[in-house]
Amino acid sequence: MTEKKSFNPFQIREQFPILKQLVHGKPLVYLDNAATSQKPTCVIDAMNSYYQYDNANVHRGIHELSERATGNYENSRIKIAQFINAFDSTEVVFTRGATESINIIAQCYLAPHFNKGDAIIVSELEHHANIVPWQMLKQRLGLEIRWLPVNDTGDIEIEKLPMLLADGKVKLVTFNWISNSLGTCNPVKEIINECKKHNVLTLVDACQVPAHQKIDVQNLGCDFLAFSGHKMFAPTGIGVLWGKKSLLEEFSVWQGGGDMIIEVSYDDFSPNDLPNRLEAGTPAIAEAIVLGQAVDWINEIDLLAAAEYESTLLEAATEGIRHIPNIRIVGQSVHKSSVLSFVFKDNSLHPSDIATLLNLDGIAVRSGHHCTMPILKKMGLPATARASFSLFNTMQEVDTFIQSVSKIQRKYS
Ligand SMILES: Cc1ncc(COP(=O)(O)O)c(C=O)c1O
Repeated sequence: MTEKKSFNPFQIREQFPILKQLVHGKPLVYLDNAATSQKPTCVIDAMNSYYQYDNANVHRGIHELSERATGNYENSRIKIAQFINAFDSTEVVFTRGATESINIIAQCYLAPHFNKGDAIIVSELEHHANIVPWQMLKQRLGLEIRWLPVNDTGDIEIEKLPMLLADGKVKLVTFNWISNSLGTCNPVKEIINECKKHNVLTLVDACQVPAHQKIDVQNLGCDFLAFSGHKMFAPTGIGVLWGKKSLLEEFSVWQGGGDMIIEVSYDDFSPNDLPNRLEAGTPAIAEAIVLGQAVDWINEIDLLAAAEYESTLLEAATEGIRHIPNIRIVGQSVHKSSVLSFVFKDNSLHPSDIATLLNLDGIAVRSGHHCTMPILKKMGLPATARASFSLFNTMQEVDTFIQSVSKIQRKYS
């Protein structure tokens, strides 16, 4: 029997207690979902329940609470493996977040396998979390970084990829699925297929994806994928590194201590099996378990219907803002997801001033470089204001946002 999924944004909204507050005397309009998502009651309750009833360290005790915590922790790993259609739950490594996942791939896979002359390809759209770890290897080992160009609309120029791959020096190609600063939804499968033709590994930064779209790593055909719990209705401090088992087995160890060993003597240690080998120390147990709860919650939602709904919000917001004089929309791909970045063309107000004034109307948007300095610089900008939508936002909130931007524009620019 296939499970029945549904999507009703108003019923979903009711499950987010944080949204029921006033900010500066106005109903909170939360449009900063790309930075971090809000948490539904079941996620908040699961966190409380863990500490109230089940708290214990994992993998170490044989008492009831420790067995319960261990069972729930490992069960969450299985849920996540199913959620992304991994081949096996041992391919799911718990990390602190996407940033740590990418750093582990750089330090424990790329670095030990580095040969002089090796290169990687990184898209120009990346978050710093998918740029700096490679630059650190460039400084340390001389890794060559080739940039996969992005055009004025914010789209990856995929036609340039074969040329960048042609000389056989590239070990890995990495790119995000959805850009957090421009909202571009990249042609991930096309990129992966091209890399496969050249036998080159791929790492997908899927940080902005699980709250909006289904992830299926087998269907994608990528080699590594990273995301963070806090952007998918779960707590901070937990994330996932997924990798094909044959590749994870070639990883050198990350940090030392705790569960990453089988045996230790005064002379040496022998590393544990996957995935514990890459999870040193006491992990973020509650957060990992609650990530499993967030996955259960998402699994009940018809994500296709939710994505369509979010598209109507984004389209309405884009249309509304387009009609306000002096606005430049930054990131104009026809394939966008849930992010609207903009500036005042004449710079009469800095994006941070726009965000400050919107805040006075109870509207939470992000301003700044969004940890994507290089692509903004390429677009001639130090910063943008960014509204990012989630499945609990409403058309009324879009209207409130547009009216507030319009008022600010009339008054200040
Ligand atoms: C596309 C993308 N990649 C990576 C990250 C880093 O995520 P975290 O800070 O949760 O590790 C973010 C966070 O904004 C992001 O949006």
